[in-house]
Amino acid sequence: MTDASEVAEHYGTSSLLARVEAALAEAGHGQGPIPWSDLAALDQFHVRGLAATRELAEALEIAPGDRLLDVGSGLGGPARYLAATFGCKVTGVDLSAPFVETAAYLSRRAGLSSATDFQCADALDLPFPDHSFDLAWTQHVAMNIADRPRLYAEIQRVLRPGGRLAIYDVVAGPGGDLIFPVPWADTPDISFLLSGEAMRQVLAGARFVELSWRDATQDALAWFAQQRAAPSPGGPGLPVVMGPDFPQAAANLARNLAEGRARLVQTIQEAAP
Ligand SMILES: C[S@@+](CC[C@H](N)C(=O)[O-])C[C@H]1O[C@@H](n2cnc3c(N)ncnc32)[C@H](O)[C@@H]1O
Repeated sequence: MTDASEVAEHYGTSSLLARVEAALAEAGHGQGPIPWSDLAALDQFHVRGLAATRELAEALEIAPGDRLLDVGSGLGGPARYLAATFGCKVTGVDLSAPFVETAAYLSRRAGLSSATDFQCADALDLPFPDHSFDLAWTQHVAMNIADRPRLYAEIQRVLRPGGRLAIYDVVAGPGGDLIFPVPWADTPDISFLLSGEAMRQVLAGARFVELSWRDATQDALAWFAQQRAAPSPGGPGLPVVMGPDFPQAAANLARNLAEGRARLVQTIQEAAP
């Protein structure tokens, strides 16, 4: 199996949409409209959820009408937040066909179908002409991608010159090998973390100019501690998407961060002409 098919298999199963529909109905949402903000526990698939998405968006500076590409868009929560909040037009691409199908379904339920569009595609082979987007965005995706030079070169190609890329990602820390499973991989076979410094070098090699770089690890540790002390109230969350073992994978990620095996970074990069 190639990396891409193994990664796709890790995330989506064909019954995903039915599970999400059933979980939303059970939570009292029926079949009708749902505000995008009510979906955050389910559709913001990264550490610190919607709070982290808001911070990254603030750092990116988005204008109404901007064309934004979300690379590895998952269930589309960040795309819906961005479209609803800033009036930008968001295109999401993801390897997982069930994720793409469910993202489109959730946008219909949230009344955001005309502002968000989801396509099944590999981030290493983006199906767009050069300079198609003003902004690009990726959260917790690159850890599944071995060929980082190609990932960032593809994003650079589809951004207009001077366009900006927002990244929120897991990087390798100095504290030793990861403890598995983690939310993006059950084994090391599909986990490809770079150190922060190595990631910066690859970005620079793809002609990105760094506008900001922030280590977000302490914020993540505080969030995990808060979740342990006062778990979020019930309702559909990521175990509906990833299965009942998800809490263990999330706990391992918290441990990896606490032990310095992994770190979290947030960065804004500008595409040089
Ligand atoms: C942890 S989820 C994050 C989803 C979303 N970015 C979010 O933060 O809510 C990682 C996503 O990356 C996608 N992904 C991984 N490798 C990819 C690739 N090569 N091309 C496109 N999507 C990819 C997965 O299918 C999955 O939906």
